[in-house]
Amino acid sequence: MINPFYNTDLISVKTLNREQVLAILQLAARFKERACHNTTCIPAPLAGKIIANCFFEPSTRTRLSFESAALRLGAQCIGFANASTTSVAKGESLQDSIRMLANYADLLVIRHPKAGAAQLAAEVSDKPVINAGDGSNQHPTQALIDLFTIQAAQMTLESLSIALVGDLKYSRTVHSLIQLCTLFNMRLFLVAPPALALPDSTCDQLKWQGIRFSHHQDLATVLPRVDVVYMTRLQRERLLDSETLICLQPFQITTHLLKQAAPHLKILHPLPRLSEIMPEVDKTSHAYYFEQAANAVYVRKALLTLLLSEATNVS
Ligand code: CP
Repeated sequence: MINPFYNTDLISVKTLNREQVLAILQLAARFKERACHNTTCIPAPLAGKIIANCFFEPSTRTRLSFESAALRLGAQCIGFANASTTSVAKGESLQDSIRMLANYADLLVIRHPKAGAAQLAAEVSDKPVINAGDGSNQHPTQALIDLFTIQAAQMTLESLSIALVGDLKYSRTVHSLIQLCTLFNMRLFLVAPPALALPDSTCDQLKWQGIRFSHHQDLATVLPRVDVVYMTRLQRERLLDSETLICLQPFQITTHLLKQAAPHLKILHPLPRLSEIMPEVDKTSHAYYFEQAANAVYVRKALLTLLLSEATNVS
């Protein structure tokens, strides 16, 4: 039987249903269970494949964990971390750049500052495209990593309470993760200054879906009520001129604030962090953001395997 993910694009989490999400997480868990990164003792299911990592915007975790995942699966990587070293600097269009890259690779991973760029790339590429973040729109692979990490931390995804904190207007990881939370009946606490609140269009969609959510400006009152806190940084690179004085300092998480948290509460952050999580928090049992970053390789191994393997028995 053909693997339903084979040769498809991953541009938005909106195209994934609950069953598909669970299948991705299950395969990622199997990669994690094995946790054998020694390429001499595991098969190389993607041997002979080439992954193009095309990063038109800075990245540490996404680019390097995709590269690590590909290499551990036996694939090889090409690409760039800075578009100024490509012919984009001479004025080549995104569409023409992607058409070229699709000639050289079996799958394209693209990060771009403009919302919609990954969709545009998928429309001109005859190879699968994975969206590694497009403006403030979507970051589907990060959201799958977040969900995988929540499941590992709380042993379930069903009906959890999650606080999403900080820049909810521009954070693409939040925009993707919220969509996935709706598949598992999660209760959402949206903690942000009014100027960086979740966009009305997303709130309207949540209402229409019957999702339980509420707006807050005080993290201290929300903290005792949740299983997971998802922190975000101020997305300075996307702010309008009128927003540059916004400060997330009142939303900072400290060990003092954590005295009110349930013992099982876990803090996630897609990283990089600025000052929203104090370093003193790293040593507490609530800190889970470094495990979250480590999980990136397992989830991205699962995604590369699913998109590039024709058979269903891809593990
Ligand atoms: N989480 C994330 O997207 O990190 P990078 O910007 O470092 O890739």
